[in-house]
Formats: sequence, structure tokens, C-alpha cells
Amino acid sequence: MKKLLMIALYTSSICAKTWLVFGGSTGWIGQMAITMLRKQGYDAISAQSRLQNRESVLHEIQTVKPNFILNAAGVTGRPNVDWCEDHRQETLRTNIIGALTLCDCAFLCDVPVINLGTGCIYSYDEQHQMLSDAGFKEEDEPNFAGSFYSYTKIMLDKMLQEYPNVLNLRLRMPISDDLNKRNFITKITRYQKVVNIPNSMSVLHDLLPLIPQMAERGLRGNLNFVNPGVIFHNEILALYKEYIDPTFVWQNFSIEEHDSILKAKRSNNELDASKLLGQFPQIPHIKKRSYLFLNGCGKMC
Ligand SMILES: NC(=O)c1ccc[n+]([C@@H]2O[C@H](COP(=O)([O-])OP(=O)(O)OC[C@H]3O[C@@H](n4cnc5c(N)ncnc54)[C@H](OP(=O)(O)O)[C@@H]3O)[C@@H](O)[C@H]2O)c1
Repeated sequence: MKKLLMIALYTSSICAKTWLVFGGSTGWIGQMAITMLRKQGYDAISAQSRLQNRESVLHEIQTVKPNFILNAAGVTGRPNVDWCEDHRQETLRTNIIGALTLCDCAFLCDVPVINLGTGCIYSYDEQHQMLSDAGFKEEDEPNFAGSFYSYTKIMLDKMLQEYPNVLNLRLRMPISDDLNKRNFITKITRYQKVVNIPNSMSVLHDLLPLIPQMAERGLRGNLNFVNPGVIFHNEILALYKEYIDPTFVWQNFSIEEHDSILKAKRSNNELDASKLLGQFPQIPHIKKRSYLFLNGCGKMC
């Protein structure tokens, strides 16, 4: 029995595929991804190179010889994306030069890359009105460059389409069970005033574990990486009050007031999740998921 166990352990260790994760040491989503990959039996290695350092990236890929690369590295700005307005070269260096460098090096080494992009490149318009169920599809032309951050992500979204080794996952307003300050729920509970708009959101607990299957299935191109449907910000806050903090109160304000206190505009939209559901029909609607999330004092079911 002991011998069988040893053989099983030995076999699984020599068979485990390797992921090289950029943003895996310090990034909010990158660290979660490392934990998830290890839970699923993969070797997950946190990359040490800065994305824009081509020689270093190439050397690391050639040394680690990963089966897959996850790019969870990016500049999002601190305390928020307004930072990118005044740090344009730093933002370009990572979000465009860096991400392209990584994907290009991986292309030369024949390694697939799953890139964490964003769906904050669209804004409701005539053809995609709020609550109309007409979400933006992967092939729709981006129409929101109201922030420099989104502008860089649009450029990258387009350029990555030229790389046959890349799957670009468009995340939106990620929600998790850790109440981390980067979690969208935590963010809106800390704002003095909140706009009340329906939006597509990504419940990381549902979506991150699908990444290995996406890689194994060889998915490529752009993919909206959100739970189906939309939820109003006030609905999230009401659930937060009901299940997490009964003393919580909040105030709303209009988009015009909201825009007047920020350097850059923010994107609000619904992304069409049908391409993702075609691969993973089990992904729950965002309203159902938010309820489950908050009805458990921050513990995902
Ligand atoms: N969180 C969101 O609301 C959200 C929404 C949609 C999309 N996304 C995208 O998802 C990705 C991850 O987001 P996150 O929330 O996990 O961000 P995060 O917590 O700020 O982590 C960003 C990670 O990127 C690394 N990084 C930054 N510049 C780098 C460079 N030039 N070379 C190598 N690593 C670099 C950082 O490492 P250092 O600490 O060493 O700098 C950090 O580990 C980003 O691309 C972001 O645009 C996030």
C-alpha cells in the first residue's frame, strides 16, 4: 500500500504541468491564482521578471519551461486608476510594453498565455442600453477610453488578437470572499457616495478555477470573463448591510457628480457572457452568486 502511494505521488509529481504566474508574488488575483492552481494539482511558480525586461522574461520562460503562463500582472494605480492619468509612461511600460513583451516571448517559445485583461473598455450606448440584456460581445468595438487605464487596456486587447498563443480574459469589478481592499464590494463600501448603476461583475470564486480547463482546451482570443447578468451597486450594498454589517449606511449620487470628483471617468456596462457559457454553462447568474456570497458572512458557498 505504502509502495503504491509512493508510486502515485512520484507519478503525479513528474506529470504535474507547470504554470508560470506573473503577478503571483504580490498581486491580489495573482496570489489567488497560485493557490487555485496548486489546489488543482499544478506546479505554480511565481515569475520574478519585470514584464518589460525582455531578456529576463525570455530567460525565465526558457529556464522554467512552463506549459502555460498566466499574466496577472498589471498597473491599475493606487489608490485607484486616477493614478494612471498622471503616470502615463509607467502605465504604458507595464500594461502595453510589458504585456506585449511577455506574450511575444511566450509566442517565440511556443507557450500559451492566459492574460487577465479587463471589460472596462465599454460603456452603455444606444445599441447596448442598461437592462436591455444586449451585452457587449467579444467582437464589438471598444467604445470607452474615458480613462488612460482603459485606453491602455483597449490597445492591448486589440494587439493581443494578433498572437495565436493568447487567451485574453476580460474581467470586470472582481468580487471575492476575502473582503480584500481590491474586492469591488470592499471598494464600494468605503466610498463616501456611490453611483447606482447595473454592471457585469466577475465572481473570482466561480471563474478563476476555470482557467486551467480553458488552457487545457486551448481557448484563444478575447473572452468576456464575467458571471452572466448585471447587478445594481445598491443591490450589493443592501446585501452587505443585511449579511455583513447591519450598521452600514451609504449615500448615492449621480454619474455627473461622480465624474466631477474623479480625474478619469469609469466604465459601466454589461458584457455578453454567452461565449463563456458555451464552454462553462454552470456559471451562476451574478445576482444569485452575490446573494450566496453575502449570505455567509463573507464565506463563499
Ligand atoms: N482588481 C480589479 O478591479 C481588476 C479589474 C479588471 C481587470 N484587472 C486586471 O487584472 C490584473 C491583476 O489585477 P490585481 O487586482 O490583482 O492587481 P494588483 O493587486 O495591483 O497586482 C498587480 C501585480 O502586477 C505586478 N506588476 C505590476 N507591474 C509589473 C511589471 N512591470 N512587471 C511585473 N509585475 C508587475 C505587481 O507586482 P509588484 O507588486 O512587484 O509591482 C502585482 O503583483 C491587472 O492587469 C488588472 O488590470 C483587475
